[in-house]
Amino acid sequence: MKSAVKPLPKGPKGSFFFGCADKLKNQPLEFLTDCRNQYGNIVPFKVGPFPVLFLNEPEFMHTVLVTQAHNFTKDAAIKNNRAFFGQGLLSSEGDLWKQERRLASPSFNHKSLELYGQIMIEHTQKMLDRFVDGQTIEIQKEMMGLTLGIAAKTLFDSEITKDNSEFVSALIDAQKYLADRMNNPLLLLLPESVPFPTNIHLLEAIKKVDTVIFKLIDERRNHTEGKHDLLSTFIALKENQENSGLTDKLIRDEVFTLFFAGHETTALTLTWTLYLLASHPDVAANLVHELNTVLRGRLPEVTDYSALTYTEKIIKESMRLRPPVWAIGRENIQDCLIGEYEIKKGTAVILSQWVMHHDKRFYDSPDSFKPERWTPEFTHNLPKFAYFPFGGGPRTCIGNGFAMLESVMALSAIMQKFSLELEPGQNVKLLPAVTLRPEKDLRLRLHKR
Ligand code: HEM
Repeated sequence: MKSAVKPLPKGPKGSFFFGCADKLKNQPLEFLTDCRNQYGNIVPFKVGPFPVLFLNEPEFMHTVLVTQAHNFTKDAAIKNNRAFFGQGLLSSEGDLWKQERRLASPSFNHKSLELYGQIMIEHTQKMLDRFVDGQTIEIQKEMMGLTLGIAAKTLFDSEITKDNSEFVSALIDAQKYLADRMNNPLLLLLPESVPFPTNIHLLEAIKKVDTVIFKLIDERRNHTEGKHDLLSTFIALKENQENSGLTDKLIRDEVFTLFFAGHETTALTLTWTLYLLASHPDVAANLVHELNTVLRGRLPEVTDYSALTYTEKIIKESMRLRPPVWAIGRENIQDCLIGEYEIKKGTAVILSQWVMHHDKRFYDSPDSFKPERWTPEFTHNLPKFAYFPFGGGPRTCIGNGFAMLESVMALSAIMQKFSLELEPGQNVKLLPAVTLRPEKDLRLRLHKR
């Protein structure tokens, strides 16, 4: 028998014109947490005239991301930033997305990751060679540089050096202005071409990044032989198969997307992890014990991954406590049921890693950093989507394995060489932009072991 459809429960009202836009813009983590605490696991509210539904029940999230994924597209934050994302893997839909995902997948399989592992370690080693005993570093900046260099080399067989520092600063600027647009519901609803200062700066930065990417594509066009990186694969396919549907613009979108999605999230995972280790010397000591036991003084290798179990638990716990992607948005394209609730076409849906990962139903002492909690039994009993740093379903992060390998390799190489001390006097605040960053860069002092 079909169960009865229930009306949606109550949610916060917000102001007459803007609904809850202000709260969502200014204090999204607190606002969404309050929504969960006050209204429960399905919370409707409005942003301006637009209906939004915040879901906070693993089963509902499974419906949106897996069983009824076909009823949902990416949300306005992605759709209204086409100059930035283009039609790359993160933002495309339908058959184009399927084709892109099929093309990119081999670059993220087990065999490819084995090759990347060596590059990840070499790049980390090069960074560590620059560091000296007693030095204070801005950790987010260093981690961004590290992961950008690794993404460029592994996926596009290209080096990020001082010569392309303009590219790096333009990419950082583009990300900053994108965050400004995403955090301002008014800007987000207007096309990027409307000449507000944020939009003008964003388009300028994208243009600079694009110039470098198109040059890279042009240069590579005649040199794909013997190359197996993702860029060469795309170009070879375009040149050799008339019906591939690939254009230079589409290749640009893919490269841009992978630079963007492929470095900042992992850089933030490493940044938060190193910060948490500096603040939890007991956990750092257990980590060093594992490194000494498994590596016995030599550099980590890809094959060490499975033995570095505590290191992996630290990364998992860090992404629970400080999820680099703190929320995912969707929009439903036809009326559908979530649980017993009917959701009307055109409703924006928010799923939040931040709120879910701090939920007392699933985690005891949810605000504490406790890597030990990740026993196989705990992991087995945790409902799917009570922990989802990489999303889930067909649009799950393609770089999940890449990011885990990179984080474990880089963390073990860093912690093997240096112990960390938080520079005193820092008031560490969260900045939930597109990703969850520290509001100001964190300064850590390094001590050689
Ligand atoms: C700790 C690091 C990372 C985190 C937390 C993360 C998180 C996520 C999440 C939550 C999604 C799903 C977004 C949605 O459903 O709307 C996603 C998608 C994606 N990620 Fe990651 N990511 C990470 C690293 C990477 C890396 C290293 C790469 C590439 C080198 C990458 C490339 C992508 C791409 C291309 C997509 C879109 C996939 C698709 O729609 O088919 N990510 N990521």
